[in-house]
Amino acid sequence: MKYHRKLPVTQGRLLDFSSDTIACLQNLYHQHGDLAALREGEQQIVFSFGPRWHQQILSDTETFHSRFFAVRGPKKSAHRRLTSGLLSMNGKEHKTHRRLVMNPFQKKSLHNYHQPIVKLASELLDRWQEMSLSSSNENEHGLIAGKIIPHAATATWQHYPVIDLNAEMTNFMLRETSALLFGVDIPEIALQLGKTIDRWVRMNHRVGMGAFVTDRHVNANYELLLELAENVESDVRQLIQARRETGLTDHDVLSLFIQANKHRGPISDDQLVGHIAVMFGAAHLTTAHTLAWTIFLLAQHPQMMSEVYREIEQTFSTDSPSMEQIEKMPMMDRVIKESMRILPASGYSQRICMNPTRLGPFDLCVGTTVIFSQFMTHRLPEIYPNPEKFDPDRWLNFSPSAYQYLPFGAGPRMCLGAPMSLSILKTVLPMILKRFRLQVVSDAEINGQIISTMLGPTTPIPALAIPQDGDFQSSPVRGNIHALVNLKSVEQQASFRRAA
Ligand code: HEM
Repeated sequence: MKYHRKLPVTQGRLLDFSSDTIACLQNLYHQHGDLAALREGEQQIVFSFGPRWHQQILSDTETFHSRFFAVRGPKKSAHRRLTSGLLSMNGKEHKTHRRLVMNPFQKKSLHNYHQPIVKLASELLDRWQEMSLSSSNENEHGLIAGKIIPHAATATWQHYPVIDLNAEMTNFMLRETSALLFGVDIPEIALQLGKTIDRWVRMNHRVGMGAFVTDRHVNANYELLLELAENVESDVRQLIQARRETGLTDHDVLSLFIQANKHRGPISDDQLVGHIAVMFGAAHLTTAHTLAWTIFLLAQHPQMMSEVYREIEQTFSTDSPSMEQIEKMPMMDRVIKESMRILPASGYSQRICMNPTRLGPFDLCVGTTVIFSQFMTHRLPEIYPNPEKFDPDRWLNFSPSAYQYLPFGAGPRMCLGAPMSLSILKTVLPMILKRFRLQVVSDAEINGQIISTMLGPTTPIPALAIPQDGDFQSSPVRGNIHALVNLKSVEQQASFRRAA
């Protein structure tokens, strides 16, 4: 890589960005500061890491357009319709549709989802409990050996299952997203559809979701992607039809959409199909990764875990918190905020420049890709001192601006599902921590990477699922997680028994 003298530009390979996104972002920031470009020949990508640039990019929606899907498929194809949801809309169309679909996501609608969220979380925890009782310890992700260790509360040796937090949370959110979007009354049909959409979303990532497409990848999977899109569309249409015929519920987004459009409303079925597909993709892995990272971070910080647990015990005595109780756990709130700062599920997003404009020292021409990265902004030491430290208490007297802290984006395109996902996180995390102490398996290799905008674990996160006994212990781990979070100091602290 060569440094360009006049502008904050690094000459290099654009593919470096997709092959190791974190290293590329960090190198650009360390070389140039909060605004930089990566240039290869005539092509360049401009990167914004600083709040002042984010503000310009995210508020000027006429100049900076969202174009989430790199591959849209032929006009009138199923794939084109499926990729036509909010993330592909701009200007007046975006504004109109955002207003049309926002109702089921507003705070006043959240009570509709609380029971389904609790029900599925209880099923997950019952399954973990059954695993600890069964000697084979086989779960749906394969056979994972359990461990025999002493149980602090009963002072006996017990056999506990080892679960993969990454797979468990991904699978749980597949069920949860399917139920909340399509209906908790038809769990199996909803789950089947969720799985089909999930395959299509993953195939999009492979073919080129995000800013870049390589011909090699497109050629290999393009036809497959279009075929898969036809299946997804046909399944979504069947479900819409079935919902209309067999009845609507108050507990799923699709029913609420259909109700709002009952009298041949302004959203056509073609558009509904696009909205539903994009929402599924936007909700599933982002929330799953946030759940997995938050549990991992807490497990590795026994003192924080102990404080959260005390708060949980003081707030609700049953297995699950009520809608009112989830808003009365300030420590849990700070933990979630801090987890989404240090390991944000959305590592970056992108825009395409539609009018010639100036961004800092750069003259941007039409078609330039501009990336804004939450991952980097959340680590700017001038905003977040000691940025690699997981420190929920930094939020005690701290209110960053919308562009300094943006796990859900900012401005007119800010995440529509933020209240829903926070409601899931604030309900499910306390439920898990109330019943289980999750202890990461010693010496596990934990890696994370940003793949197609999302920062998620790229390795299993094996953890012992121990009935809660308050004996919180961190474990030494390996992997690139150490480059993302400073865990060394807490590893020395190792064990923290809850005060009685
Ligand atoms: C922890 C979970 C989540 C995270 C971290 C997250 C993050 C984000 C971010 C960063 C954006 C802005 C993207 C941009 O500006 O280019 C966004 C947009 C969006 N998200 Fe989320 N999201 C989450 C959960 C959800 C859920 C549960 C739903 C719906 C069920 C959802 C639906 C959407 C939609 C529809 C948009 C597009 C909004 C628009 O363009 O107007 N998200 N999300």
